[in-house]
Amino acid sequence: MTDDRDDHDGRGDHDRDAGLAERRGLDEAVVYQPAEDSGLLAEAALEAAHGRVLEVGTGSGWVAQQIAEGRGLDAVGSDLNPHAAREANERGVEGVVADLLTPFRADAFDTVCFNPPYLPTDPDNEWDDWMEHALSGGESGRELIEPFLDDVGRVLAPGGVVLLLVSSLTGYDEVLALVEDAGFAAEPVVEESFPFETLTVLALRRE
Ligand SMILES: C[S@@+](CC[C@H](N)C(=O)[O-])C[C@H]1O[C@@H](n2cnc3c(N)ncnc32)[C@H](O)[C@@H]1O
Repeated sequence: MTDDRDDHDGRGDHDRDAGLAERRGLDEAVVYQPAEDSGLLAEAALEAAHGRVLEVGTGSGWVAQQIAEGRGLDAVGSDLNPHAAREANERGVEGVVADLLTPFRADAFDTVCFNPPYLPTDPDNEWDDWMEHALSGGESGRELIEPFLDDVGRVLAPGGVVLLLVSSLTGYDEVLALVEDAGFAAEPVVEESFPFETLTVLALRRE
């Protein structure tokens, strides 16, 4: 995830970009496009995913598409952003508009993947558009990770696995503590370091 927020002086530029993109029918400016974090999540999922798969916060749907095509698994991609759900559908993935795990029933999935919005963001610098939803993890960087971990055990079938991407910017140890509190054991599947962050995909299984 590239943090280019310094290029923006608040919500104005983003709103103008999103509005223009929408008028032209272009979703790219308002949907997170595959980046190095997406690639790492896909790599982990190709190794560890099984059964029925849900990718939460699917963005472009690219990760879910890799899983469906690479492993021959049924994959659903959900996102708060309706433009993202539509883009996932265009990739042949079932795209669903959903806030985290809210609409999904208990034990519905064997694998749940999530590359969350994780950049710690000063509340005064929130800019309130779809790209903020894709990037900002609130002040701690963990504001989406916490409710996700609180609820993911509900939708996970017995023997299921959660693949969660964690950035060093978000606080690796803090996320591990939340994982433990939610009743999961964590094991790193893939890890890669970049100039400003280290990204790890954790496989979470019930203890
Ligand atoms: C970092 S992007 C990851 C996109 C894609 N999974 C990838 O790896 O390329 C995070 C995604 O989470 C979505 N998102 C943010 N808040 C959400 C929520 N409450 N429920 C579902 N999705 C959410 C954003 O719209 C965005 O598409």
